[in-house]
Amino acid sequence: MRIVLIGFGNLGRGLSRALVQKAGFLRRDHGLIPRVVAAVDEFGAVVDEKGLNLAGLLKTAEGKGTVALHRGAKRGRLALQVIEGIEADVVYELTPTNIETGEPGLTHIKRAMQAGRHVITSNKGPLVVAFRELDSLAKRCGVEFRYSASVGGAIPAVGLAKKLLAGNKIREIRGVLNGTTNYILTRMSTEGAPFEIVLREAQELGIAEKDPTLDIEGIDTACKITILANSLLGTNAGLKDVKVAGIARVRPEAIRLAQEAGQTIKLVGTAKRGSLEVGPKLVPLGHPLAVGGTLNAVTFELDLAREISITGFGAGPRETSSSLLGDLIDIHRTLGG
Ligand code: HSE
Repeated sequence: MRIVLIGFGNLGRGLSRALVQKAGFLRRDHGLIPRVVAAVDEFGAVVDEKGLNLAGLLKTAEGKGTVALHRGAKRGRLALQVIEGIEADVVYELTPTNIETGEPGLTHIKRAMQAGRHVITSNKGPLVVAFRELDSLAKRCGVEFRYSASVGGAIPAVGLAKKLLAGNKIREIRGVLNGTTNYILTRMSTEGAPFEIVLREAQELGIAEKDPTLDIEGIDTACKITILANSLLGTNAGLKDVKVAGIARVRPEAIRLAQEAGQTIKLVGTAKRGSLEVGPKLVPLGHPLAVGGTLNAVTFELDLAREISITGFGAGPRETSSSLLGDLIDIHRTLGG
């Protein structure tokens, strides 16, 4: 499979490392031979239609901060040129999220689909701004569209619900979908540590958004619950449809009182048909949503299975590469590979 990588930051590099490490496994166990023919970042692009040497490219990107300084690279903003001009089966859109316009990811995804490429993305922006449009464009163009990595990092929430739970009607989705706020709330509850100090620690862990108010004010969770609702409940919601409260007003005292009553406080996103909400909620200790540290969790309420929960790592390049690679294998299988 010929692959184009648009975005070579943390996630693009994490995926590339996984592709290098798992080349033998992918060929033997899945009959899949991924050939990355181009890698692009905001400063330039490297192209080799025979397949790039990813290990070498990773060295350049890690050492010099961009693929544009790799041997043979072209400089400039070349994403659209590569998407439309380089023959490929799959385009990975892994550029940073912009939740207001969805750009540049939104245009990258549309042009890739129009050029007949299957698309895999981790980018929340385009999915929040234009989920329905992208979903129908993929169908009109006859291409596959996957976005498992956009919600819950390594947690296969979308695939679980769409495939293995397909016989159920989903009544409600609840999720602890932001590792940064979960880490802060956990540290406040275990050590009574002050908010500002733990926020700094969460930033040092590298999972907070560039602008951490997106985490703290519940916007990141709102994006993820919107994506889950649009994808799994068939809604056509945007961020404006989500009632959002963050964790800034949660005091250690409130957490202590909750604990005395056998509960904990989590930032929970909730999606039902007709209502989307994010806010601090009491969760019984021992419930699958009461995960600690940077973990994420999703609970589905279903007509047949009743309740199914899944927990795991919601961020990090290695963890998220699990979803990015899973989507590739899924497309390969869907196409009969
Ligand atoms: N800032 C996000 C989090 C990163 O803390 O979960 C993953 O989307």
